[in-house]
Amino acid sequence: MRNAARTLALVSLAFSTLFAGGCDVGLPAGRTPHREGNRLDMNDQLKLKPQRKDLFGSRATGLMEPQPGTVAVGEEPYPYAQNEADKAGAGLKNPLQPTPEVLAHGKFVFENVCVTCHGPKGAGDGIVTALFPKPPSLMTQKVRDWPDGQLFHRPMRGQNSMPSHSRQVDQNDAWSVVLYIRQMQSVEPVAPPAAVPPAPAAAEAQAASPAPAPAAAAVPGGK
Ligand code: HEC
Repeated sequence: MRNAARTLALVSLAFSTLFAGGCDVGLPAGRTPHREGNRLDMNDQLKLKPQRKDLFGSRATGLMEPQPGTVAVGEEPYPYAQNEADKAGAGLKNPLQPTPEVLAHGKFVFENVCVTCHGPKGAGDGIVTALFPKPPSLMTQKVRDWPDGQLFHRPMRGQNSMPSHSRQVDQNDAWSVVLYIRQMQSVEPVAPPAAVPPAPAAAEAQAASPAPAPAAAAVPGGK
């Protein structure tokens, strides 16, 4: 008899747990007021979700960024500022040799990261250049004459409309890519120096006016 009573108690406990649990699942957070001791609290509590804005409302995501200056284990912080390409060129030495493995890795990085803008042969004709500023060719004599460190510096720090890629490529990736660009330079023809792009304001003015002035000038001459 005592056994039967205990079984009954256990079964009813299990049911109530099931029910309480069943009702909680899927309730959107914030629907019910916070109640002390209610199992609902586990679902319905202040918490940080990566895709929601953070609890203090200041940022668009709950994901935490590392503190500025944080250095990952084994990471060597890159010492040169963006405008120190010359110093990087003089001070850095490529730690890698152009072995087939390194070149294959450089090709992999180039074809996954740089190609969208710089194009498959570095000519500056990547697929996004229909909408994005066209980069100069990497086959110019200027870039050929750069020391490896200066070429390495660009993906690390970026330049004008090219953002830094140091979060997508690590230093090993970037040095491999430098050697892969060197390999392309040894087979591709030298590209002419990039034309100095017109100042944005001048380019806009040119695009906005559908050249009525030259047409008007041509008419009297033509008749
Ligand atoms: C989002 C497009 C984009 C991506 C991706 C990109 N670049 Fe660039 N890159 C540019 C643009 C645009 C410029 C020209 C910037 C300027 O106006 O000075 C440039 C300039 C450069 C230059 C300097 C060329 C010169 O003649 O001054 C180098 C070197 C370079 N990029 C290397 C790389 C490498 C290596 C990668 C891949 C790790 C890469 N870039 C990825 C857009 C990109």
